[in-house]
Amino acid sequence: MSTGKTPVSLDLDDLQSGILHPRPSPYVGTYVLLRIDDRRDGREMLRRLLPVVSAGRPMPTPAPGAWISVVLTYQGLKALGVPQDSLDSFPPEFQQGMAARAELLGDIGESSPANWETPLGSPEVHVGLAALSPDADRLEAVLTRARAAYRELPGIKAIWRQDCYQLPTGRTSFGFKDGISHPAVEGSGIPGTNSKEVPLKAGEFVLGYPDETGQLPPMPQPAVLGRNGTYVVFRKLHTRVAAFRQYLRANAATREEEDLIAAKMVGRWRSGAPLALCPVRDDPELGADPSRNNDFLYFDDDERGFKCPAGSHARRMNPRDAFKHELVDVRLHRLIRRGTSYGPMLPEGVTEDDGVDRGIMFVFVGAHLKRQFEFVKTQWVNDGIFIGTPIEKDPLVGPTDGTGTFTIPERPIRRRLQGLPRFVVTRGGEYCFGPSLSALRWLAGLKT
Ligand code: HEM
Repeated sequence: MSTGKTPVSLDLDDLQSGILHPRPSPYVGTYVLLRIDDRRDGREMLRRLLPVVSAGRPMPTPAPGAWISVVLTYQGLKALGVPQDSLDSFPPEFQQGMAARAELLGDIGESSPANWETPLGSPEVHVGLAALSPDADRLEAVLTRARAAYRELPGIKAIWRQDCYQLPTGRTSFGFKDGISHPAVEGSGIPGTNSKEVPLKAGEFVLGYPDETGQLPPMPQPAVLGRNGTYVVFRKLHTRVAAFRQYLRANAATREEEDLIAAKMVGRWRSGAPLALCPVRDDPELGADPSRNNDFLYFDDDERGFKCPAGSHARRMNPRDAFKHELVDVRLHRLIRRGTSYGPMLPEGVTEDDGVDRGIMFVFVGAHLKRQFEFVKTQWVNDGIFIGTPIEKDPLVGPTDGTGTFTIPERPIRRRLQGLPRFVVTRGGEYCFGPSLSALRWLAGLKT
């Protein structure tokens, strides 16, 4: 952890606020992917998008009624004619793109790029637009403005669109409240959700500022391109809700036990109430109370995971102080998540698959693709070595294949669930760069 005492002042007017700010609740959103066939049109589009992109101090409600953000893939930067020495200054994993990293990330079998939705994972994905708003009218208004930036440019093609919205339950398709736990970022004005977590150094999430190591993270060059930018990972994750419900039913004697096993797998009850604070039964009031529902640590109270298993999704993804006497520095692996739900709910009580696509557009934001997103996905989702159960993967989102196990610490003896199938299938995704406004201006003005 850095010992620097001087608070960092982030250049918020230069940052895309839609990338850093938590989404509104409720929300509707649209993601659009674009291909640049002509670099001059690509630059013109960025120039026209500049006044539409949200910047400035993040507000709980966006001033124009919606946030719109623009991100670029490595192929997109190439298509814009970014000079080679600048392209080479991006980290190798970004240059390769998500599909090339599939095996490492555990995107194999059904989740492998060969089975991804077209055009995800292909070199045609150049630009991503993300719009989020509290309501459909304001979303449409901002999308219309964004479309006006490229519609008449023959060298730009819209190649994919995904609409998202908060389900009527306010929860994700598996039935759990999500988006509760977020880190605070020094200087961002965005409050974290856990008063026990010291705000993270701005350089963990924004390029050009010291990170938790006290160093400046490696930054794409020239500085005007890198500074105030960040990396954005998006993944379309299909959720097998019927299979999840069937698994719970097959492994529990009662409805109450189904709820308990589900909570043990997630680390929270469906209402969002954390097992660490209420291990026996759900407490919807606690789940709904932002001043309490993320206010906990693990080590002193629940080191061995009798309340919240070390292998549960949320504890894996953020072990908090669980490793305080070990070498793992959790603060180097924190993620900002900006995910949204897509597809309709599977009606309550249905356990047969209806064949409808539903899930999460998972979005990660951070300055370090490798030691944040890739580390967490490979070491903490796909593996169990760090918690002493090497063969176990994340029971909710891990690439399990029907032979997965999940340990629930209990007295006098632990319970071990067997035969976990895959509940989440990757439909595609990409590694993107979210440039600052200055960088967008620089890209728009390229003369190559
Ligand atoms: C369909 C896939 C997924 C579902 C349904 C899902 C669901 C959830 C839920 C219900 C929570 C608890 C709410 C909260 O603490 O905010 C949570 C927390 C979290 N998830 Fe996921 N998740 C998914 C995929 C992922 C992936 C792929 C990652 C990372 C690679 C991830 C990282 C996290 C993190 C960092 C937390 C917060 C943990 C904390 O701070 O306590 N999730 N997720």
